[in-house]
Amino acid sequence: MSDTASRIEELRAQIRRHDHHYYVLDNPLIDDASYDRLWRELVTLEEEHPELVTLDSPTQRVGAPVSELFSPVQHLRPLFSLDNAVSDAELDAWEQKVVRMLGRPAEGYICEPKIDGLAVVLTYRDGILNVAATRGSGEVGEDITANLRTLPSVPLRLLGDAPSLLEVRGEVYLTLDGFDELNRRRREAELPTFANARNAAAGSVRQKDPTVTASRALEIWVYQAGVLEGGPSLQRHTEVLDYLQSLGLRVNPRSSSAPSLAEVKEYVKRMLDEHHRLPYQTDGVVIKVDSLADQDELGATARAPRWAVAYKFPPEERVTTLRDIRINIGRTGAATPFAVLEPVFVGGANVSMATLHNEEQVRQKDVRVGDRVVVRRAGDVIPEVVGPVLAADQERSSPWEMPSDCPFCKGPILRPEGEAVARCTRGLTCPSRLREWLFHFSSRGGMDIDGLGYKTVDMLLRDGTITGPADIFSLGREHFEDREGWREKSISNLLGGIEAARHRPLWRLLVALGIRHVGPGGARLITARYRSMDQIAAATEEDLAAIDGIGETIARSMREWMADPDNQDLIAKMGEGGVSLADPEPEEKVLPTLAGLSLVVTGGLDSMNRESIQQAIVARGGRFVSSVSGKTSALVVGASPGVSKVTKAQRLGTPVLNEDQFLALLEHGPEGILAEE
Ligand code: IVH
Repeated sequence: MSDTASRIEELRAQIRRHDHHYYVLDNPLIDDASYDRLWRELVTLEEEHPELVTLDSPTQRVGAPVSELFSPVQHLRPLFSLDNAVSDAELDAWEQKVVRMLGRPAEGYICEPKIDGLAVVLTYRDGILNVAATRGSGEVGEDITANLRTLPSVPLRLLGDAPSLLEVRGEVYLTLDGFDELNRRRREAELPTFANARNAAAGSVRQKDPTVTASRALEIWVYQAGVLEGGPSLQRHTEVLDYLQSLGLRVNPRSSSAPSLAEVKEYVKRMLDEHHRLPYQTDGVVIKVDSLADQDELGATARAPRWAVAYKFPPEERVTTLRDIRINIGRTGAATPFAVLEPVFVGGANVSMATLHNEEQVRQKDVRVGDRVVVRRAGDVIPEVVGPVLAADQERSSPWEMPSDCPFCKGPILRPEGEAVARCTRGLTCPSRLREWLFHFSSRGGMDIDGLGYKTVDMLLRDGTITGPADIFSLGREHFEDREGWREKSISNLLGGIEAARHRPLWRLLVALGIRHVGPGGARLITARYRSMDQIAAATEEDLAAIDGIGETIARSMREWMADPDNQDLIAKMGEGGVSLADPEPEEKVLPTLAGLSLVVTGGLDSMNRESIQQAIVARGGRFVSSVSGKTSALVVGASPGVSKVTKAQRLGTPVLNEDQFLALLEHGPEGILAEE
């Protein structure tokens, strides 16, 4: 190595060490001027020798916008959610389940602040930051490497003896000061402000231009190693945290071991009191079983690990003035009262509106316009009015009453005898109801029409381009060409989205129509039996209820919906608009060749993603489970597998399959591939 090259390496190592002490340990070793001297020397040398610049140099954090931003990243291992507890009793219940499953008490716990930020996954290969991704669906996230590189507390290169592979999870957040500062800047620039620190953090990470991310005071706490290869063998989560810290990653110093649940409860009590004083937002405490072997043994349900639980802080409450009570009309016509409030800061956000649920609740709570009221909000939960705070001799306005006319269409609002909900009676001619209906219809859970979001729906309704539910399917290029903000690309995108929606499977159409009680599960069962709208319309309530899994409620609701002439008209119009009203005949049926088998897959396969693997197994009657146990029929091992799964399978003598063997299993069934019991 030349002298220059070794000097550059030396400077980088020094700067990395100082960055680590400054940003991660919050404990600088040198003053700013000395740091600046090192920095300037490095920058000068790198400018003189561009051939020596490497991506892991501290000078290379903020790069130009890159095209890989937000492209999908398959996580090496899925990210789970956490089950919640809200009381000591629920913590007890959680521990009892742990003890029952282990057959003995766990070997201690660890408590960590639950950071209210954005979950991210960092992958280091041979110590160099390789990919940073959002949590996404838990299986697949979005590539945010260029943006996370700009966080000074995210090491571009790990310190010390780095493992060959480390996939680490953590939470990116904005400090409360950083949040205030950001909103102040936005107000000055007349930009909309963020409602809370978490939204602001999420928005900052999802920037097309990394320099924008770099300008926001984002930080990270890491709290879990998802995959670790070529590193020390660790027995406890506390050791993992120490190890992560030794690699230069930022571990929350408030994490603390608790030998028993009594100490856990004490920790929770302390945090309940102290969390308001932390410089970042937390919404609870995460409690984890400390022994990794115990964690492995406990495994996970489909949603969350059994070895961890989140104790959620109770919602925050504040008092403010109730300025008005108004109503919204939702997609089913339901009239929902909501409170217009004197803005108040509660649960980490400014609140000026809160739900009042329904008429009955307003009466029960007896809140009246002009009252001082208690407002409650937790994290991202919708704020709610709890009740009035009344002085003894207070004068009050008269009790609120549901308006008799809809504020949007002037149609009558009625509450049918015996029902809790009042509804606008004008059907989909009410513009508010139509807007909500269309929004649901085109949303992800419905027909998933790309490019047709709330704003666009609202715009098209407001200027009368759309007046009814089927009008979406008569939209053409001419309806957008002269509009401000609409370019060739956005128009094609929307029209492409509408075209795609014409060919969705029938079950999706049923869900999108918003028929009461008919969700994705029910809709799939119905369309597996009846393959067209005509057939469904011809089915009686008894026919429908005879479908396995369809109860009376769904059958009746489906029948009533079909009997309504307005709905028949709507379906006919959808058909005229080119919407497919029938499913193609089913392809060859897949046989239940994997019935009775339960399979675990670890690591990535070349030919299938996790979702298609799961589908393939379930379609053949098998079970797709997340952890290896005595009941596991086989473990399928792909690239970068979880070491603990493989060792456990070996210990239990569970058959281990590679990708080719797994594909053969799918094609031919277990004969000859899995040994007899
Ligand atoms: S552990 C398998 N630890 O909470 C469990 N999560 O509600 C993985 N979170 O998606 C999570 N602080 O984004 C863990 N100290 C902490 C956490 C934490 C915040 C978030 C995380 C997760 C969510 C679940």
